[in-house]
Amino acid sequence: MRKPFVAGNWKMYKTVREAVELIDEIQPKIEELSGVETVFCVPFTCLSAVAEKLKNSKIGVGTQNVHWETQGAFTGEISPLMVKEFGKYAIIGHSERRSFFGETDESVNMRLQAALNNDLVAIVCVGESLDQNENGKTEEVITRQMKIAFTNIPKSQLKNVVIAYEPIWAIGTGLACDPLKANEIIKYSIRKPLIEMYGEDVAKEVRVLYGGSVKGSNAKEYFLQPDIDGALVGGASLKPEFIEIVRAAA
Ligand code: PGA
Repeated sequence: MRKPFVAGNWKMYKTVREAVELIDEIQPKIEELSGVETVFCVPFTCLSAVAEKLKNSKIGVGTQNVHWETQGAFTGEISPLMVKEFGKYAIIGHSERRSFFGETDESVNMRLQAALNNDLVAIVCVGESLDQNENGKTEEVITRQMKIAFTNIPKSQLKNVVIAYEPIWAIGTGLACDPLKANEIIKYSIRKPLIEMYGEDVAKEVRVLYGGSVKGSNAKEYFLQPDIDGALVGGASLKPEFIEIVRAAA
């Protein structure tokens, strides 16, 4: 059984004060819900305050990136050891990291290896652009992203992996991918390469999320799909609406 998983990606939003206000408002309502793993991936500056707030909570804390070294001269980066001081999750390979900060399939692989070797739970993002989608390249692009991201990742570490399918054209646009279509893409471009790399038994335990304009009003349609186990939520995770999404998953 794959436990539903909902992660909020706060991106570059919220000061510490705003973060604490949101947590105070939504934490009690999320705590009432069971059967779902919920995580906030917050800006570095909010990690300490959010982790402190959630220290006796079942809600997890994570970052939106993590470096492949545990320390070193890497200005602006965060190491897996530093993440672990506050939380146990890290998003890796978000399309905004890929398009604005030069993240590649290879660097995603390096970050993933480091995250898993340091016992973090990695939320690995894959997804196609509008152009790739319109030119029938979705399966090819995502399969390649998957194969490179998981190079040298052993079967034994897959239990700490969550994958998010995020079509780039659906992120922050309000143009959510059709749930049936998202399920099909996950099945053929994410689960199929996982089965090829790791075998059916291991692959079927990996949780796969959908991300891209998930809202309180449409979340349930995704969670009803057999291959979708939850959501990676941007905009709607910044407001109380996030509770509705966690409730739909629970
Ligand atoms: P969105 O972002 O929910 O605002 O579309 C999703 C994401 O970037 O993870």
